[in-house]
Amino acid sequence: SHAATFATRLLQWFEQSGRHDLPWQHPRTPYRVWLSEIMLQQTQVRVVVPYFERFVAALPDVRALAGAPLDEVLALWSGLGYYARARHLHAAAKQCVERHGGELPRDFDALLALPGIGRSTAGAILSQAWGERAAILDGNVKRVLCRVHAVAGWPGAPAVEKRLWALAGAHLDGVPDGRMADYTQAQMDFGATLCARHDPACALCPLQDTCLALREGRVQELPTPRPG
Ligand code: ADE
Repeated sequence: SHAATFATRLLQWFEQSGRHDLPWQHPRTPYRVWLSEIMLQQTQVRVVVPYFERFVAALPDVRALAGAPLDEVLALWSGLGYYARARHLHAAAKQCVERHGGELPRDFDALLALPGIGRSTAGAILSQAWGERAAILDGNVKRVLCRVHAVAGWPGAPAVEKRLWALAGAHLDGVPDGRMADYTQAQMDFGATLCARHDPACALCPLQDTCLALREGRVQELPTPRPG
């Protein structure tokens, strides 16, 4: 189809307004993408960048990480917080050596079986490292989808989350060949900046004419806050 899709609109926005200079984008290897996604799970980009640089300089690949003492991994992580992430990363690297020839597996279920990798992180790795057509659904992407499709209900509720995964999956059909890595990064950047929780920049938004929350005047109330 020649119609502008959710994906092509976000990709066009990304060209001018997205982040193109992140250290894990150059070079974009599976190991570097994986490490960045684990660091970014609970920490902002600007905090992660120097930790990422230091970590990959000391431990440049899966085998180096697997062979390092846990103390060294924790020392490299020191200051980032949520230290279970570092323990899981180390355990996952060992599993990659034992079960996957010292590489990250290019397979959704095999990635999901590794410690510290959930459904969204597996999708972020598959799409960015190998260009696979895989969906992501982190907090920022949930907010974008709740607004664009006017999905009410707390996004953490299982029924709402199921609907959001279905919408995220449906949008993959509109991603042009060869653009999956950029599309994943575009969604992250778009949710973190333009479609922010407070005061989103709707007047500048490439999805203005399709966003149901904007049309219905419900941008402020979506996504629905956690009950209680
Ligand atoms: N959060 C999780 N992954 C991210 C990424 N690749 N860029 C920005 N924020 C993220």
